[in-house]
Amino acid sequence: KITGPVLVPKDSVKPPIADLQQVKGTISAPVDIFKLANPTPELVEKGKTIFQTTCATCHGTEGKGDGIAGATLNPKPRNFTSLDGWKNGPKLT
Ligand code: HEC
Repeated sequence: KITGPVLVPKDSVKPPIADLQQVKGTISAPVDIFKLANPTPELVEKGKTIFQTTCATCHGTEGKGDGIAGATLNPKPRNFTSLDGWKNGPKLT
């Protein structure tokens, strides 16, 4: 419970730093996973890049579930080179 006046410190940065610019959200186009199941070489390359930057820390650069950020996780990151232990199955359909 607040009993006395609330003291709000004045901005001490002169001149004040401008707020970050607001950026409106965008809606991504829907993805047809059946098209992605038969990918073009360009899509495969794009996927490799995304995997190495976003997933490899846990799943390992070879996808063996041995990435450094996944070392202490329980359960362990999935090993994509093995069919064992998949919770939702390794296929799209
Ligand atoms: C922070 C670590 C981490 C990152 C980063 C990460 N994963 Fe995982 N992933 C896990 C863990 C842990 C599991 C196992 C979860 C379980 O067994 O319940 C898992 C499981 C999976 C599975 C198996 C699901 C199943 O049915 O068993 C897939 C597919 C997967 N990850 C894909 C990805 C992809 C694609 C990326 C990058 C876009 C990614 N993961 C990034 C930790 C990570």
